[in-house]
Amino acid sequence: MTYDSARRQRDVYNRWWRWYDFSTKLAELTRGFSDIAERRKAVGRLDLKPGQRVLEVGVGTGENLPLLAESVGATGRPVGLDISTAMLRRCRQKLDRDGVRADLIEGEATNLPFADDEFDAVLNFGSFNGLDNRERALEEMMRVAKPGAKIVIADEGMAKERRNTFRGKLFLRFDPWLGLEPPLELLPPNVRDLHITWFRADYWYLVDFVNEQDLGDGMT
Ligand SMILES: C[S@@+](CC[C@H](N)C(=O)[O-])C[C@H]1O[C@@H](n2cnc3c(N)ncnc32)[C@H](O)[C@@H]1O
Repeated sequence: MTYDSARRQRDVYNRWWRWYDFSTKLAELTRGFSDIAERRKAVGRLDLKPGQRVLEVGVGTGENLPLLAESVGATGRPVGLDISTAMLRRCRQKLDRDGVRADLIEGEATNLPFADDEFDAVLNFGSFNGLDNRERALEEMMRVAKPGAKIVIADEGMAKERRNTFRGKLFLRFDPWLGLEPPLELLPPNVRDLHITWFRADYWYLVDFVNEQDLGDGMT
């Protein structure tokens, strides 16, 4: 991601933070799914165990963090990274209000401020499509994930069957992001146990795989 486009994303979310949770609820109502139940599906694909360290890239206001914290237990640690100070500030308020333990870090998805092999699992939920350099962001997620770690990417992209329904066609007209496909072409050949499905009433893709990236093994 170039400096300008990263800055643009940051500016958008620095203005949007106040309405973000409301807009999520609106999507839940208009598209007809339970937000929390669907988040559980994505978090479930991480196969988390007590004591593990899990990273969410583009953590936003932290809607997934209580689920991540619950899955890794008191001995584990969820870490949330985001480019927007305002989203992180809101996230911290919610964590303190709800008594959820997590570390928050301001940073950029294409240049993660972590060492190689730091995390047992990595999640990107709702921020992947908007990145200019998705290849680089994926490379970074794989770099900071241990070999054998689960990586989950979920974002807007409608299932084929949904595109032909009345509601599907209507939503596609107003939200072009829903026309996106899961980013399978970006995955290196050495991923293991690739699993692709759709959730959030078939409006989002959910891709997960096991990281087999070795240290220094470039993906280009
Ligand atoms: C649609 S929100 C998703 C938030 C959260 N994951 C959720 O499930 O509600 C996208 C988030 O990604 C963040 N983001 C966008 N571009 C980013 C980048 N290059 N690096 C880090 N975070 C980024 C935004 O600031 C925003 O908080």
